[in-house]
Amino acid sequence: MKERSVTNKDLIHIFSGFKSEEGNLIPILQRVQEKRGYISEEAIKRISRFLKISENQIFGVASFYSQFRFDAPGRNSIKVCLGTACHVRGGQILCEAVERELDISPGQTTKDKRFDLERVACLGCCALAPVIQINDDIYSRMTVIRLKEILDKYE
Ligand code: FES
Repeated sequence: MKERSVTNKDLIHIFSGFKSEEGNLIPILQRVQEKRGYISEEAIKRISRFLKISENQIFGVASFYSQFRFDAPGRNSIKVCLGTACHVRGGQILCEAVERELDISPGQTTKDKRFDLERVACLGCCALAPVIQINDDIYSRMTVIRLKEILDKYE
């Protein structure tokens, strides 16, 4: 599991591939997230200094894209599929049920670090929609009723 926040050395290496221009914000954020699985507060501060744009601006742009996360991943990662097939079969309702059950939004990690949550566009098994994935386990034709029992399996 990727847990450690991005290091100064990682950031210097990432910045060396870019000019200090606002237009490079998204690719830099992508590189940081690839490296450690999330974008820490410290990384946002350093990017802000490098690109000379405010931390609020960076946070605003990054939160617009569901691909970016700001919390370290939890022990278990939940992906709720919101691709077309899953969406029409209740993916959004499932996602909201997970959010309520765990009291987090997509991109966040529970306080006890047990779960993190992410929305994804397609898990590649549309015939089994709606689908959620927890770590490497796929749960197909998911219902809100089965959700609690399934989450209880994960420590
Ligand atoms: S749309 Fe959900 S698995 Fe493809």
